[in-house]
Amino acid sequence: MDEPDQPPTRAPLFRELLPESIVLEESTPDRFGDDLSELTEGEAALMAKAVAKRRREYTAGRVLARRAAARLGLGPIEVLPREDRSPGWPDGVVGSITHTKGHVAVALARAEAFRGVGLDVEQSEPLKLRLWDMICTDEDRAMLARHDEPERSLLAKIVFSAKEAAYKAQFAITEQFLGFSAMHIDLDVPNARFVATFRQEAGEVFRPGDTLVGRFVRTERLVATAVVIER
Ligand SMILES: CC(C)(COP(=O)(O)OP(=O)(O)OC[C@H]1O[C@@H](n2cnc3c(N)ncnc32)[C@H](O)[C@@H]1OP(=O)(O)O)[C@@H](O)C(=O)NCCC(=O)NCCS
Repeated sequence: MDEPDQPPTRAPLFRELLPESIVLEESTPDRFGDDLSELTEGEAALMAKAVAKRRREYTAGRVLARRAAARLGLGPIEVLPREDRSPGWPDGVVGSITHTKGHVAVALARAEAFRGVGLDVEQSEPLKLRLWDMICTDEDRAMLARHDEPERSLLAKIVFSAKEAAYKAQFAITEQFLGFSAMHIDLDVPNARFVATFRQEAGEVFRPGDTLVGRFVRTERLVATAVVIER
């Protein structure tokens, strides 16, 4: 997504969205260098040709993942992207990485307790009109129509973010790519929660009508969503 020029935020965003047993690390990508020195050889090799912004956000994700792993009692971990670009976590853990201008977050948890976790952070701006057709199903539009502008377009951005968080959480289980029409989102705005309902099968695990539950938070600059799938 496009990211307007603005100062970084350092306020914690995701903590209230996740159970305490999920380890969370948050920061801002600007705090990390682009010289690849904090990466393993394998991680760094993949960033050799990347631009500075990408090097920073990738480094931030890896450094925070190592901090989270240490807090979970794991040794130093290497987080190489898999072929599908999802983060390659060590056996026995599930996790998620998200970054945008001004914020980066990593969640990590023991797989005995959680099947999947998905985080997403976006700039708190209206969803661009040209993206509505790609992101919103008829059910999403009907839900959003219950809200007036300008709130409606900001909530549409949360729908977008909720779909990305739900997608990441389910991917740990199904390893299946899903387009934005695969789920619809019901936002419970007063309680800052949402339900993502599958509209199609996913990985022979989820069926149409199955649901994932998530939470969201918005600040002046950012929106953040999280989906946790417990065992
Ligand atoms: C993968 C995707 C969700 C990432 O979201 P984004 O807003 O572009 O970027 P974020 O910063 O939030 O997340 C990027 C991180 O997601 C992680 N990621 C990438 N693919 C992933 C996947 N399939 N599953 C879980 N995590 C994934 C990576 O760790 C990546 O960071 P890194 O490259 O630095 O390691 C998005 O690019 C995408 O492909 N969306 C289409 C699929 C979708 O959302 N469908 C909706 C179904 S209803």
